Amino acid sequence: MAASIYSKVSSVFRPGLFSNKVAIVTGGGTGIGKAITQELLYLGCKVVVASRKFDRLSKAANEMKSSLPKDTTADIKAIQCNIRKEEEVKSLMKSTVEEFGRIDYLVNNGGGQFPSPFANISLKGWNAVIETNLTGTFLCCREAHQNWMGEHGGSIVNIIVDLWNGFPMMGHTAAARAGIENFTRTCAQEWAQHGIRINCVAPGTVWSETAAANYADPSIFEGAIPAVPAKRLGKVEEISAAVCYLLSPGAAYVTGDTIKVDGGSGLQGFSGKFVLPDHDNMPPYTWEEDIKKRKEEEEDAHTRTGPQSKL
Ligand SMILES: NC(=O)c1ccc[n+]([C@@H]2O[C@H](COP(=O)([O-])OP(=O)(O)OC[C@H]3O[C@@H](n4cnc5c(N)ncnc54)[C@H](OP(=O)(O)O)[C@@H]3O)[C@@H](O)[C@H]2O)c1
Repeated sequence: MAASIYSKVSSVFRPGLFSNKVAIVTGGGTGIGKAITQELLYLGCKVVVASRKFDRLSKAANEMKSSLPKDTTADIKAIQCNIRKEEEVKSLMKSTVEEFGRIDYLVNNGGGQFPSPFANISLKGWNAVIETNLTGTFLCCREAHQNWMGEHGGSIVNIIVDLWNGFPMMGHTAAARAGIENFTRTCAQEWAQHGIRINCVAPGTVWSETAAANYADPSIFEGAIPAVPAKRLGKVEEISAAVCYLLSPGAAYVTGDTIKVDGGSGLQGFSGKFVLPDHDNMPPYTWEEDIKKRKEEEEDAHTRTGPQSKL
């Protein structure tokens, strides 16, 4: 028999906090999304996990379901959904309402990117990252609003990245997430009248097996540590705690905001290890020289032609 979720998960929040609530967590079968799903289940929530790779997703959902105690209000269902596809997102929202009767919470966690110097990003690669992270999150927010929250209220948390100083080698995803952060502020104002709160969580560098598997060189995770004031990587559970806070009644007066969960790395110049190469290619400051040169040219012209006739 599988170990109970109570022996595998812990939470600073009170048991039963999310009893009879329903959440959708995109990318909820792996890494950060799985930790969020487990904490929500632990707190009594019904959770729909949604992503593209259905075998892996349903395996994770079955494993989490088998660890639920018999007397819990929690439940879990896996639904295949590519958040880039509008019809699949619409169907995800409709199926969630059909299955569990409501959508109280949406956690837009599903996303991804690949490391590349900005100048080498192909249009295809750029579009893929923008479509997944920015357009996918937009579609999920809009459809949660249209299918439930616009009438009944709810709370949305968007997972973004540490983008405060640009993001060398990850410029596409930082641009996409900056877009999310901005539309979060728009939605917070337009949707407050419907009882919807919407916020972002910006993780620093957080190790998980699946996150590391996304990169050819997983040492980029450890390589980030020197730039983290906390001098360690984040844990998936630490991102989940911030998400659960924002979903909870404890954050009833918080909307349109972002919580950084990054050990202070957002305060540093670079998130990650990007060594600035030495060079002397920056254009020099020439403004004063240009003015001096222009004056000399004017004086020279004046000497050659003499003062203009007043006739
Ligand atoms: N780990 C970090 O250091 C870190 C830092 C900042 C932000 N983040 C962000 O946090 C989120 C979770 O990342 P993670 O670290 O937990 O890595 P992960 O385990 O690789 O999680 C990414 C999840 O997103 C899902 N996904 C990707 N594209 C999707 C799509 N088009 N439609 C639906 N689902 C999609 C994946 O599932 P499928 O493959 O089944 O679709 C996967 O479950 C991501 O948005 C990531 O960019 C991570």
